[in-house]
Amino acid sequence: MTEPSEFILSNARIVLANTILEQGWVEISEGRIIAVGEGAPPKSGWDMAGDTLIPGLVELHTDHLEAHFAPRPGVYWHPKSAVLAYDAQIAASGITTVFDSLRVGQDSRKDGFSAHAEQLADAISAAQAQGLLRSEHFTHLRCEICSPDVIEKIESYLSGRSIQLMSLNDHTPGQRQFRNMDKWLEYYRGKSGMSEDELQSFIVQRLDYAAKFADEHHQKLVNIARGHNISIASHDDTTLEHVQESILDGAAIAEFPTTIEAAAASHSAGIRVMMGAPNMVRGGSHSGNVSAIDLAHAGTLDVLSSDYVPTSLLMAAWMLPALAPAVSLPAAIRMVSKTPAEAVNLQDRGEIAVGKRADLVRIFTSDAHPVVRNVWTMGKRVA
Ligand SMILES: [Fe+2]
Repeated sequence: MTEPSEFILSNARIVLANTILEQGWVEISEGRIIAVGEGAPPKSGWDMAGDTLIPGLVELHTDHLEAHFAPRPGVYWHPKSAVLAYDAQIAASGITTVFDSLRVGQDSRKDGFSAHAEQLADAISAAQAQGLLRSEHFTHLRCEICSPDVIEKIESYLSGRSIQLMSLNDHTPGQRQFRNMDKWLEYYRGKSGMSEDELQSFIVQRLDYAAKFADEHHQKLVNIARGHNISIASHDDTTLEHVQESILDGAAIAEFPTTIEAAAASHSAGIRVMMGAPNMVRGGSHSGNVSAIDLAHAGTLDVLSSDYVPTSLLMAAWMLPALAPAVSLPAAIRMVSKTPAEAVNLQDRGEIAVGKRADLVRIFTSDAHPVVRNVWTMGKRVA
């Protein structure tokens, strides 16, 4: 039996971009939404039993592939197996469009992911070309701008591969994400396995790299992005000067601003402010910076990203209206679908509307927790 290419999902609570249809239906044909209505459908459909339908989630920044590729420190798993397991988890989390965040430029001495970016990108592309993946994958390269080899690495990556989003990261100790040196030490102690002496000499080296490379690499990367029509994201903006620089760069997204002032300035300049969904679910930033919920209260939060926990994306959007009553459920769902899609120029998805891709997620709630029951990508059931 083949799966139908035309079908109706009926008796569903449907979250549209600006409102909710309490009992409605969606008609799908050849991977697209061709009609949406309230009440009884025009012909019999698949009864959703009153469950909620939302658009497939759009995730712009997840490094969760790393957890599948390096399940233990120094242990690298089979790339294709890692990609398939990661993709399955992404789809089961309701994410139908994902920007795989791959690192370019070393962030710490024992951080081996930068060396594997091309290998992982090629494994994803091969799996996608063979029709093995449940979600649609795009590339987000996280460029560590003060790394000596970042330009060389990105030029190598671009020979034969494409990039849709590039973020400009600067994790030099003592600034941006790590203004608080205690937080920097706590993070890198846990992540790198370096001794205290190694950490101290690493700090000296990072400050030296920043002095040598920050400005030159920043401008070169912006030029590369412009030359290849790649969307730019700023990362960990902290001061108004950082935001001014992002405006000049033509950034589309401000990833994880660390202060309420930087977020407000980016938001009012039309740069979409993105915060971590884990930050929302946990109630604060693991680096001690501004919380996502504070930005939601301030009206300057535009996009959520699952960052390092795929299931956090739906959880955060689902819980947001209760945490910030000024944010409706449709507005919260826009932060994980329509707004991130528009930020990276994907106009064919991100909402349940006629003509859009049939990327859909069926959810029921268990003790107020959202549980993904089914997922469709381009009208094909993938979870
Ligand atoms: Fe960061």
